[in-house]
Amino acid sequence: MRIESFIEMHEGKLFGLGMAHSFPSLFVFEWILNNYPLDYIIEIGTGGGGLSLYLYFQFLVREMGFSTYDIEEKYNKMVDARGNKTQYNIPKIQKNILTPHFNKRDIFDKETISEIEKILSENKTLLYCDNGRKPEVLKLYSKYVNPKSILATHDFGRAIKPFHVNALLRTLNFEEIPISKFCDVYRTYQRFWYKHI
Ligand SMILES: C[S@@+](CC[C@H](N)C(=O)[O-])C[C@H]1O[C@@H](n2cnc3c(N)ncnc32)[C@H](O)[C@@H]1O
Repeated sequence: MRIESFIEMHEGKLFGLGMAHSFPSLFVFEWILNNYPLDYIIEIGTGGGGLSLYLYFQFLVREMGFSTYDIEEKYNKMVDARGNKTQYNIPKIQKNILTPHFNKRDIFDKETISEIEKILSENKTLLYCDNGRKPEVLKLYSKYVNPKSILATHDFGRAIKPFHVNALLRTLNFEEIPISKFCDVYRTYQRFWYKHI
C-alpha cells in the first residue's frame, strides 16, 4: 500500500473501532498534549468510538477529564463510519471504558451548552469539534472557551473553511497553533487555536 493511502484512510479503524481520522492526526493530538498543559478533553462527535478510545487513554495516563458527545449512540454498536461491522467486538469497551464518558446529546441543546460551558469554565480544555455543522458549532462554542484552553476542529478546509472562523477567532483572542503545516502536509484536516488571556 502506498503512503498516500495510509494518509487518506479517513474511514479507518483504531482498536478495531470505527475512526474517521487518519493516523497522522493521532500524532497531532500527542504533540498538542505534550506541548500545552491541559486538564480536560471534550470530543464533540463520538462516531464509531475509535478516536474516543484513543483520547480516553490520553485522559487516563495524563490524569485529565474526558467527555465525548454524540446525538446518536454508534460506538457500542461496533460499526465503522460506513456502517460496516468492525473487526473486533470488545463488549467491555461500552460498559467499562467509554460509557462513563459518553453523553448522548444534541450539541445545540440548551442543557448541553450549559454543561459544556461549565466544564470549559473550570478546566483548561481541548474542545475538539467533529460533528456535523462545524462552522455553527465553532461559532457557538468559541465564546465559552477560556484563556489557556484550545479550540480545535476536524475537516478544516473541507466542511469548515478559513472564512467561516478566522476573523471571529482573531476577535476572540485565539491564535492558531503552529501545527497547521504538519496537518496540511499529512492531510489530517485539523486546526487548533489557543485562547490567550
Ligand atoms: C464524523 S463523525 C465523528 C467521528 C469521530 N470523532 C471519529 O473520529 O471517529 C460525526 C458525528 O457527529 C454526530 N453529530 C451530528 N450532529 C450532531 C449534533 N447536533 N450533536 C451531537 N452530535 C452530532 C454524528 O452522529 C456523528 O457520529
